[in-house]
Amino acid sequence: MAGPRHFLDLHHFDGGALRAMIEHAAKLKAASDRRSKLLEGRTLAMIFERPSTRTRMSFDVAMRQMGGSVVNVSPSELQLGRGESVGDTARVLSRYVDAVMIRAARAETMETFAAAASIPVINGLTDKTHPCQVMADVMTFEERLGPIGGRAIAWTGDGNNVAVSWVHAAVRFGFELRLACPANFEPPASVIDWAHREGGNVRVMAEPEEAVRGASAVVTDTWVSMHHTDGHVRHNVFARYQVNDRLMAQAAKDAIFMHCLPAHRGYEVTDAVIDGPRSAVWDEAENRLHAQKAILAHCLA
Ligand code: CP
Ligand code: NVA
Repeated sequence: MAGPRHFLDLHHFDGGALRAMIEHAAKLKAASDRRSKLLEGRTLAMIFERPSTRTRMSFDVAMRQMGGSVVNVSPSELQLGRGESVGDTARVLSRYVDAVMIRAARAETMETFAAAASIPVINGLTDKTHPCQVMADVMTFEERLGPIGGRAIAWTGDGNNVAVSWVHAAVRFGFELRLACPANFEPPASVIDWAHREGGNVRVMAEPEEAVRGASAVVTDTWVSMHHTDGHVRHNVFARYQVNDRLMAQAAKDAIFMHCLPAHRGYEVTDAVIDGPRSAVWDEAENRLHAQKAILAHCLA
């Protein structure tokens, strides 16, 4: 018997399945009425081990607009906070709700939860990946510049959880990804090896200028993610990876700037870039809503 339709990571899907979700998201966004009955009577539980603005709001609003409802909890409100196991929590929640979105401090927690759950589990960010974000990012790129296949995308900064989901997306959607990261802050070698084994056009380099040259999108993220404890070291190491007007000038003429947010202005990006005409960040944030509707519909179909 097939298991639940989880949405845990982009590399678990083939390109066609991800493409279908992006197309569904675009249709839902274009509809004159954003309310539907697609998930009428369905309930999503959301567990947040870390703070969230966009993921929390967009999943909640997505469920409401599709006729469903949400239960939102932090581990401290569950017996999980007092030592009930992740697996037992998953088994119990599976008897109450139709799906669970989890933002887990550690990917292993999400994986343990998903293995024990008999309902779909959606990855709302872990220390390793952030697939819902990158679905919204691919959607945003295509709204602005057309099909992403064959285009060059530049990542500059930390080879973090969001960068890893960009690597997965590069392989599955067939675009070139150049990641400029300081030594020791590249995405895990296992992820890059996977991309190469799959025939992906993914390269890691040290120089942001090299990554950005002629690229159609320049993407970055915070230098200090929620699970990092070495922020003081990171600010020095990453200074030359900042996205500013000088770096954007190396990209293609119509290149856009992307950032999953929250942004740390004056660090990984300047005000001039994030507030400038090439910035797509507010559309990315909005598209979390539409992309996740399509992900929820996929999981709960
Ligand atoms: N981009 C993103 O996931 O934002 P939140 O942490 O606010 O959910
Ligand atoms: N890399 C960031 C993304 C936040 C949405 C973090 O994990 O904190």
